[in-house]
Amino acid sequence: MNNNSRGGFSSKLGFIAAAAGSAVGLGNIWQFPYVAGQNGGAAFLLIYILCIFLIGLPIMVGEIAVGRNTLANPYGAYKKLGGKSWALVGLFGIICGVMILSFYNVVSGWALGYFIQIVKGDIFQETDFSAYFKNYTADFLDNLIYSIIFMLLTAFIVYKGIQKGIEGASKVLMPTLFFILIVLIIYGLTLPNAKEGVEFYLLPDFSLINPATIYSALGQAFFSLSLGMGALITYGSYIGKNDNIISSATMVTITDSLVAFLAGLMIFPLVFSQGQSPSEGPGLVFVALLGVFKSMPVLVGKFVGGSFFLLLCFAALTSTISLLEVPVAYLIDEKKWSRIKAVSVMAILIFLIGLPSMLSYGAVDFLSNFTFYEGSSKTFMDVVQDIFFVISLPLGGFLLSIFIAYKWKMNNLSAEISYGFKSYQGKGKRI
Ligand code: TRP
Repeated sequence: MNNNSRGGFSSKLGFIAAAAGSAVGLGNIWQFPYVAGQNGGAAFLLIYILCIFLIGLPIMVGEIAVGRNTLANPYGAYKKLGGKSWALVGLFGIICGVMILSFYNVVSGWALGYFIQIVKGDIFQETDFSAYFKNYTADFLDNLIYSIIFMLLTAFIVYKGIQKGIEGASKVLMPTLFFILIVLIIYGLTLPNAKEGVEFYLLPDFSLINPATIYSALGQAFFSLSLGMGALITYGSYIGKNDNIISSATMVTITDSLVAFLAGLMIFPLVFSQGQSPSEGPGLVFVALLGVFKSMPVLVGKFVGGSFFLLLCFAALTSTISLLEVPVAYLIDEKKWSRIKAVSVMAILIFLIGLPSMLSYGAVDFLSNFTFYEGSSKTFMDVVQDIFFVISLPLGGFLLSIFIAYKWKMNNLSAEISYGFKSYQGKGKRI
């Protein structure tokens, strides 16, 4: 139990639920399968798992330890241990969080919108789901409404605070998500051609691996574990001094990779059973899966499809709250704002910053064809993702490692870890 006045999680399990909730999100269920699908399936999965455990897990331990030691947001934490110039690294992390949430909330809004469309049922009249996805994401009004609702839900939970809001929501939403996922996997495996999907996903073809695949697996691992911008420094500042950081981080990492793995295991059999392409791209779950739901008897399709998008919303919600909590904790700690003021101002600001991303999927031409590099035209949202997630998160993780090793020093890290893991003291002192 964390007794400092900033509030904290009620128990180790509460922290694990919240941190796993942060980790498990659109990154696992929406993004991981389509990135894996575009990069050769099984071979990508293998590299991803290596990145998660060899690079992600140690960085996660480092972030949590820095947070618990300083009891601060990323800016305050770097400042306390490293002084003014390191504090800028923390501040940049907070800015990354703001920018990530700005587009993440838009995609979460799509998931919520699809959930509503499926429950209403009209969507099953459609024949071309690829065109539907294009029209849907270009429709300003629907996007506006659902992303406002999503931001309000996020803001409400974050306003409720650490224990009642973040921990309470995660403890209910995470087990529900597991349950829906397992039901969908079992269903998918019973379909014709499911085996081809499983093979694509589990039998590696190493000729498909190149440096770009490795880098995208690394970026994906950082994003999926919520690393590199201080979200886990913030959550780490809410845990008890006697919690074992290594075992908690291991649990979170295993949960996160398990959900990504299971999401793939759910999606590929469904996609192959429809004879669709696994390399559809960002529309994979929005396009390919709809064909699957449509092919079922109407009520079953509504139920399975509705469950799927509900699952996506739950997963996204426990992630958006972790993203919003970071700038909110900064404003509360450093600017002495009240929680309600910090939450309201930040939620509105981030929503507004997300508007150009929302408009970049067809609504406004200039934003939809914003620029051109790496051989393809990029939307505004692509650019925000490339700067603040693909480039910045691994960089943030790298800077954190340098910071811990050379500024804070390994013996301090090891002392912090050993509060909850007595036999650890003395390890990791080499630098
Ligand atoms: N990990 C989440 C996902 O996989 C996204 C996320 C939440 C995140 N908080 C973060 C990503 C902090 C980077 C940093 O969907």
